[in-house]
Amino acid sequence: MKKLPMGDGLYYRFLDGNDLEELLVLIDHVYDGMEDKTAYIMDTEEEVLEQLTSENDKVVGIFNEEGKLIAFRHMELGIERKQLPKYVDIVEIPVEGTLYHGGAMVHEDYRGRGLQNRTRKIMEETLENENFHRATSTVSPYNYFSMKNVFKSGFALVGYVEEYPAGEDMFEERFIFFKDSKNPFEFSGNNLKVNLFDGKAILKALSEGYVGIDVDYDTLTMAQLSEYGEVAAESDLLYEI
Ligand SMILES: CC(C)(COP(=O)(O)OP(=O)(O)OC[C@H]1O[C@@H](n2cnc3c(N)ncnc32)[C@H](O)[C@@H]1OP(=O)(O)O)[C@@H](O)C(=O)NCCC(=O)NCCS
Repeated sequence: MKKLPMGDGLYYRFLDGNDLEELLVLIDHVYDGMEDKTAYIMDTEEEVLEQLTSENDKVVGIFNEEGKLIAFRHMELGIERKQLPKYVDIVEIPVEGTLYHGGAMVHEDYRGRGLQNRTRKIMEETLENENFHRATSTVSPYNYFSMKNVFKSGFALVGYVEEYPAGEDMFEERFIFFKDSKNPFEFSGNNLKVNLFDGKAILKALSEGYVGIDVDYDTLTMAQLSEYGEVAAESDLLYEI
């Protein structure tokens, strides 16, 4: 596939099995540089190859002027593999029409250009004419930059899992995110702020109809879905729990 320009000396194209080696080099490099390894669940080489070759997966790669792969994003056309709806009570996530945003990485020399979200946009635009208008993903509570980007892309935090499977006999904390571009959430106007690392408080707020809508340092802002509460007299009503 031909590489398409992104406007700033970078190019993108969808990757296939021939890109396996270069992709693994990038993944290992970025992972080695991560201070908090719990923030990224590494796929095995077989899983990465499956993602590059299966009809149900897409992997987009970003290349620099020298043709070197400097970023990627994986997306799965379906949610059967990850089964995220089982962790979510606050909203019904239909299997049909829902996709899963998997791993994304940007080489440290190219961070700060919004590439995590630009690759998400490329994926969404590629699927515009297909029947996927809902998306799910997971993010670690300790992956601030990624979480900020997921909120910026219009996702809401709809689930918290204390022990999410992270490889053989390994479990990590994860938030579950969801976006439905055809039926965006409607809110009652009641907001609250909770500590990002207080899983219990987040679960309590979720059970009362609140979803996460933004994060600022260790403060998570949650907004109540309209079906759970009377519309507040003042739309900026805010309280702490
Ligand atoms: C998460 C990640 C993809 C974001 O990269 P990105 O799209 O380039 O990030 P943004 O363009 O949104 O960056 C916004 C700001 O955060 C900073 N930033 C982004 N990631 C950062 C990181 N890991 N460490 C420190 N600062 C970071 C950027 O430099 C930029 O700062 P600026 O506004 O002062 O210029 C990248 O940090 C990464 O590859 N992390 C490791 C893998 C990972 O966690 N992937 C996500 C989970 S699947």
